[in-house]
Amino acid sequence: MKILVTGGAGFIGSNFIRLLLDKHPDHEIVNFDKLTYAGNLDNLKGIEADPRYQFVHADICDAEAVGAAMAGIDAIVNFAAESHVDRSIGGPADFIQTDIYGTYVLLEAARRHNVGRYIQISTDEVYGSIRDGSFTETDRLQPSSPYSASKAGGDMQAMAYHTTFGVPTIITRSSNNFGPYQYPEKIIPLFITNMMEGKKAPLYGDGANVRDWIYVTDNCEAIDLVLHDGEVGEIYNIGGGNECDNLSITRLILAALHKDEELIERVPDRLGHDFRYSIDCSKVKKLGWAPARSFEDSLRETVDWYVGNRWWWEKIKNGEFAKYYKEQYESGNKS
Ligand code: NAD
Ligand code: DAU
Repeated sequence: MKILVTGGAGFIGSNFIRLLLDKHPDHEIVNFDKLTYAGNLDNLKGIEADPRYQFVHADICDAEAVGAAMAGIDAIVNFAAESHVDRSIGGPADFIQTDIYGTYVLLEAARRHNVGRYIQISTDEVYGSIRDGSFTETDRLQPSSPYSASKAGGDMQAMAYHTTFGVPTIITRSSNNFGPYQYPEKIIPLFITNMMEGKKAPLYGDGANVRDWIYVTDNCEAIDLVLHDGEVGEIYNIGGGNECDNLSITRLILAALHKDEELIERVPDRLGHDFRYSIDCSKVKKLGWAPARSFEDSLRETVDWYVGNRWWWEKIKNGEFAKYYKEQYESGNKS
């Protein structure tokens, strides 16, 4: 099977490519990535020389480049996206362009080339916030941020392409991922690396907001299962079942690093901040998936990974991210 993985130089995409190459000796991967600030070929170190792996540096919004990459492709797995909520509040345009228009370009390519499978990687954020209970796949979408609204737009296009043109689309909606190679703007890697540097962890609002955490390889296993055995036209929620508020996560990281609470800095809340995400995952479980990792163990291992891989994140924090973060501070968004 030859798979076009878009956004494969990002956090989840790179973990997914590693998993596919490990698990499926007969699979070939074309990693199609624009290398935005979040795309990083360091995430794929060690596999570049694998004859089953090929990298294409291009934009999913470029129909010609996408068409050129489609030769022999059996399936598309679309991870490519602008993915950070805070950045979408600062500037939604790139989110709408990549997450909606880019998805449309890929769906057109899937249609023209009659691919066997098109997997749209989406998020639990499209459902919006829920105080009690959990969302199922048929619940209505009520996104709160420009990011989640753009992801919902991509989902709608994927569903429409299935209904109208018979493109074999499947959507996965996962909860918050964490693990190695996550860009240190998201809460877990940001807080780990800040604390390691003796810097403050900027906790939004009262720290009571709840996310459901999933270790990245558990999500990748579920995506692999859906890619091979999922039913076309369907949507699958993928959650870790580890709901935790932000203050508790912060304390777990502090404890793992043997640091104290002085490193917590209370900062103004995110605009439109969703209070809680929660999804019902019985559908993907019926397909045969269950998370393999305990939250506490995988969080500790994740902390250890960032402790052992300063080479990976220090240059990110000294470069583009440092500039962005300084601008956020100056505009009052972070303190
Ligand atoms: P990421 O920001 O780490 O990586 C995104 C990747 O997409 C980068 O390599 C980037 O260069 C690439 N990209 C961006 N725009 C592109 C374009 N126009 N053309 C080609 N490549 C482009 O993101 P992530 O955290 O790995 O998320 C991957 C996907 O999973 C996204 O679609 C995101 O919405 C979804 N998701 C993420 C999470 C999470 O917790 N991180 C949870 C649920 C769903
Ligand atoms: O739920 C899935 C989503 O999870 C994905 O679709 C997104 O791509 C991914 O970025 C993530 O979105 P969140 O907004 O939930 O993740 P983030 O790490 O930005 O924030 C997690 C929580 O931590 C949220 O309640 C806001 C809070 N937070 C975040 C940052 C960056 C802070 O308190 N301080 C911070 O500095």
